[in-house]
Amino acid sequence: MRLSTYFLPTLKQTPAEAQIVSHRLMLRAGMIRQSSAGIYSWLPLGLRVLKRIERIVREEMDAAGCHEVLMPTIQPADLWRESGRYDDYGPEMLRIKDRHERDMLYGPTNEEQITEIFRGAVKSYRDLPRNLYHIQWKFRDEVRPRFGVMRGREFLMKDAYSFDVDYAGAKRSYNRMFVAYLRTFARMGLKAVPMRADTGPIGGDLSHEFVILADTGESAVYCHPALLAHDVLAADIDYRGDLEPVVEEWTRHYAATDDKHDPGSCPVPADELVTARGIEVGHIFYFATKYSEPMGCAVTTADGDSAPVHQGSYGIGISRLAGAIIEASHDEDGIIWPDSVAPFAVGLINLKSGDPACDTAAGDLYAKLLAAGVEVLYDDRDERAGSKFANMDLIGVPWQLVVGPRGLKQGVVELKRRATGECHELSVDAALSRLVG
Ligand SMILES: Nc1ncnc2c1ncn2[C@@H]1O[C@H](COP(=O)(O)OP(=O)(O)O)[C@@H](O)[C@H]1O
Ligand SMILES: [Mg+2]
Repeated sequence: MRLSTYFLPTLKQTPAEAQIVSHRLMLRAGMIRQSSAGIYSWLPLGLRVLKRIERIVREEMDAAGCHEVLMPTIQPADLWRESGRYDDYGPEMLRIKDRHERDMLYGPTNEEQITEIFRGAVKSYRDLPRNLYHIQWKFRDEVRPRFGVMRGREFLMKDAYSFDVDYAGAKRSYNRMFVAYLRTFARMGLKAVPMRADTGPIGGDLSHEFVILADTGESAVYCHPALLAHDVLAADIDYRGDLEPVVEEWTRHYAATDDKHDPGSCPVPADELVTARGIEVGHIFYFATKYSEPMGCAVTTADGDSAPVHQGSYGIGISRLAGAIIEASHDEDGIIWPDSVAPFAVGLINLKSGDPACDTAAGDLYAKLLAAGVEVLYDDRDERAGSKFANMDLIGVPWQLVVGPRGLKQGVVELKRRATGECHELSVDAALSRLVG
């Protein structure tokens, strides 16, 4: 992408309305613009990041044996009357009437919708287990939308729904999602800690929030240091095998958010306890037959009876993650994207656009990187070097490749790693093989 023709409306000034760093940086880096309270447009740079996050989530869900569907944003109220939630949900639900005066709503979540689909299609225990997910916009009329995309009213969520014949099956489905979540967040360069969450009237212990540690997180969190040492990506995961040992390894240690933490009964000695700030990026939940029973979603069992299916739901805040990753990875100059979610892999800076030698060398590098499938943002504008550097630091592209007249005379370019500031002079060919290899 040539920056001279790109749509990247960056801001020099810090927007006054933004209270947290990710919101400020997303506005400044030209990723998003507010439409109304808690509702945002995603501009090209922001959309690239959103799509990359989405892709990691999708790959990990597919690897765990889930199947992608796409349900509508607008749902009929009658479906929610069946489960009893139409009245229970309260003012967070955006209620709409169509031209025939039928009650509709903008979906805050999709348990009812997926249960309706499933009950019409599956009748036998032989067709279980199944897990269906979609990545779709949700609307919740939050009392206090704030922090940009972190607590929006309209937001993009991945929500998955599992269907099993009994509790034992549902627990296996839950375990698969538990492990898939660990892998998903790790691939985004995040330390996500599963923390036991409220199960409400369902009871049991099958609800976990996945909380990432970031200095500017909304809530205080406390956990055993062992949880930060595990490396789930190094482990060989077989989703068809027994995942109970993996889940046990992650759940036997203490981890609590501030509303659950009790210093009095905390089993971790104070000098070992990790105290940090956290952001909820995912939530998994087993809810037994809460929807299948009232909505008549049942299957015939092995001994010929009929039984309501056991369900779970599993959410990931995709749009929230864009902000959360920035909260976890930035410095005073701007965003530091982990490679896996970066909008571009390389930012190519031509220090002297208009200079024939620089234009030729930078143009050549640009073409070669593109040909090798590397995503490059090429700053070919006629701007001061200082402002090009500041801009590239702000938008946080992981590698900066700098072509200038002085270096070219010696046949070298500069390669800088955004995260560490480490900078090396290399020949053009060496730089290319570093970035392509
Ligand atoms: N208002 C919001 N803005 C952005 N993301 C949200 C919002 N509400 C929830 N999410 C994301 O969706 C995931 C699943 O939501 P859920 O657990 O159902 O919501 P809540 O925790 O608000 O009850 C959350 O873990 C979070 O990452
Ligand atoms: Mg939650």
